[in-house]
Amino acid sequence: MDLVLEGRLLINGELTQGCVGIDNGRISAVKKVLRGDRRIDVGYRIVMPAAMDPHVHFRQPGMTHKEDFHTGSLAALHGGVTTVLDMPNTNPPTDRPRNLMDKRRMVKGSSFVDYGLFVATSMPRRLEGMAPYAAGLKIFMGSTTGSLLDNDDGSIRQMINKAMELDLPVSVHAEDDSLITEGEASSLKEHLQQRPAEAEFNAVRRLAALRAAGVNVCHVTRSEVLDMTAAAGMSSEVSPHHLLLDTGCGLGSGGKVNPPLRQPQAREALFRAAAVGKATMLGSDHAPHHVDEKAEEFALAPSGVPGVETMMPLMMSAVKRGELPLGTLAEMACAAPARRFGVPKGAIEEGMLADLAVYDPRETETIDASRLHSKCGWSPYEGREAMFPRLVLMGGELQLSRGEVCGERIGRDIKDATF
Ligand code: DOR
Ligand code: ZN
Ligand code: ZN
Repeated sequence: MDLVLEGRLLINGELTQGCVGIDNGRISAVKKVLRGDRRIDVGYRIVMPAAMDPHVHFRQPGMTHKEDFHTGSLAALHGGVTTVLDMPNTNPPTDRPRNLMDKRRMVKGSSFVDYGLFVATSMPRRLEGMAPYAAGLKIFMGSTTGSLLDNDDGSIRQMINKAMELDLPVSVHAEDDSLITEGEASSLKEHLQQRPAEAEFNAVRRLAALRAAGVNVCHVTRSEVLDMTAAAGMSSEVSPHHLLLDTGCGLGSGGKVNPPLRQPQAREALFRAAAVGKATMLGSDHAPHHVDEKAEEFALAPSGVPGVETMMPLMMSAVKRGELPLGTLAEMACAAPARRFGVPKGAIEEGMLADLAVYDPRETETIDASRLHSKCGWSPYEGREAMFPRLVLMGGELQLSRGEVCGERIGRDIKDATF
């Protein structure tokens, strides 16, 4: 056995003391006692699958002053995330085969974690050309950062059909653009008025009417939507900012994001629903904008908040406070995304890739943006309690040790890797 990791293992939602044996990058045995050439004994610390973030914006190409794959993946790694799926609203957008191939070449060799690339197009032919290299199709029903928009039922139906024929997962930014009002908002409350929950409800209702079973609804902000998606056979994704921040957070333009932060009661209801397992996946929607851009007056500041590095640390500290079961977190942050996007990760099980994260429940710290790794230079969670991973393995390789990066940029495109 190449390596044995011993500690409190999270298996089927329960913690038990045991050993994970690793050979050729995969989990080859899970037993109470195992012998191995190299051993890492982490004692009482928690050993769980590393997370997979199904929703990040790493901004390459075109906006690399905000982020790129080097810094974005470094942030992911420090946050216990070893697989990310990147969104297509870059400049140029990932909306045609040539742009996708350029992006693949550009990011190759620069990522510390495994990744997949989403595409966006309303042209079936282009989707055909991109499908072999794409992690999924993204549909924007509401306008937000970038120029991608498709809010027409006929076109959406056609693209979903095509994606299904090509066996390509579909994720939707579900805000009905026709229910969003233009104009200059000057506060989080006004931004919410311009993009009301009804825009989200209606988009999801329309998807349900299109019989879009199997489609994933991104960044759900309201607990009602978790019920609507489940009833229609769609999956759902919730993001840390909608679980932890609301219109009362006092962040001003820092909290400007689409879909918007909702009122405190709605946020609490969303958290409770996620904590009882009603959300399929957790996705950071890591949308870094530079600290100087976010400091603009509200109407001019771009929408989006960073989150890939703080997602698991914040949720692990919620687990520690008893607000969220660890098994529920592991299901939505690790197992569910890996299953949905066909990556053999996300569970401590024989045959899975050895992507593991070790957390020490006795070591929490407060978030300090100056110590995070995104280029954006700020965090909406400054000062909050967080439990960062002490150790991260990816494919059996030690990528992070004592909370510090120690590996190389060995991240692979999930469409290239022979997993
Ligand atoms: O607030 C947002 N920012 N919502 C999105 O859907 C896109 C994102 C971005 O890319 O900045
Ligand atoms: Zn979105
Ligand atoms: Zn997004």
